[in-house]
Amino acid sequence: MSGKVDLPNSIEETLTLLSSGGYLADRALATVLHLSLRMQRPLFLEGEAGVGKTEIAKVLAATLNRPLVRLQCYEGLDISSAVYEWNYAAQMVEIRMAEAAGSVDRENLNTALYSPRFLIKRPVLQALETTELGAPIFLIDELDRTDEAFEAFLLEVLADSQVTIPELGTIKSEEPPITIITTNRTREIHDALKRRCLYHWVDYPTAERELQIVQTKLPTAAATLSAQVVAFVQKLREDEALFKKPGVAETLDWATALTELQEVALDPEMVSDTLGVLLKYQEDIDRIKGSRTRAILDEIRMEANSQATIAGSMPAQTV
Ligand SMILES: Nc1ncnc2c1ncn2[C@@H]1O[C@H](COP(=O)(O)OP(=O)(O)OP(=O)(O)O)[C@@H](O)[C@H]1O
Ligand SMILES: [Mg+2]
Repeated sequence: MSGKVDLPNSIEETLTLLSSGGYLADRALATVLHLSLRMQRPLFLEGEAGVGKTEIAKVLAATLNRPLVRLQCYEGLDISSAVYEWNYAAQMVEIRMAEAAGSVDRENLNTALYSPRFLIKRPVLQALETTELGAPIFLIDELDRTDEAFEAFLLEVLADSQVTIPELGTIKSEEPPITIITTNRTREIHDALKRRCLYHWVDYPTAERELQIVQTKLPTAAATLSAQVVAFVQKLREDEALFKKPGVAETLDWATALTELQEVALDPEMVSDTLGVLLKYQEDIDRIKGSRTRAILDEIRMEANSQATIAGSMPAQTV
């Protein structure tokens, strides 16, 4: 894709834009995203792991044809990794060259050393650079992993799209970046920061949407397999007391693994043997494998048969 892509003008257009990038959003998410684009406000996405929070920013960058600037947060993230750093090595070379050339004008040298030429731009500064394609997509990923001091610093960036560098002054973007903040809610984010954003809880998808996601991302999977995988995962999320519920990412991984093994439908033994793709705690695997797997498979077959009967088609054909 080349050239500037206009922002969507409606919720419908937002849904279409996302689906053109392979992202199937529900209407509530498309609505809040549409508003955040129109109102130029950051979008704050909270939700369990693997429900598609990070993916939204990636798909937006791809479909709007804008650079993606990603700030991956972690404990101890500091200004020099997140915002800017002076290129000390290059500054030293400059000093040596000035000394070798003879008389050194300290004031001029100082100004030269702290000019943009020696500035290493980290994600926050990169996000403030508008290109001819428009403002970049600024993904602040897993904000809950940073500390509160960094969160406080982000307030200035989010509120005014600017940062202050003592030696250079204030750098302000022409157009605010399209900012997506994600968190897994391992700790609460301050209200002051949330107040500057539009908020959305990204939930697990409905069975219908999850099946569409699998069919879109994995068109080669057998139809029965995809339907059973989704039904199985939905049952795990709804009915089982798991330590960690599988996200959409795990559903896709499982469907991919079973397709790789040339399975066209779920059978109890294969499910038990591949549960490690879906569940990541031994306690959860122990709970589900064997008799529980057989019971869940019976339930989903019965439900599929009764749905097929209601629909007036032959039972036992779809799932
Ligand atoms: N609605 C959706 N449409 C299409 N793909 C989706 C959707 N939701 C999730 N996915 C897929 O699920 C995978 C995981 O999504 P993503 O990495 O964005 O999750 P996350 O919420 O950021 O998880 P974490 O909190 O662990 O970082 C991606 O590969 C993405 O393709
Ligand atoms: Mg993520």
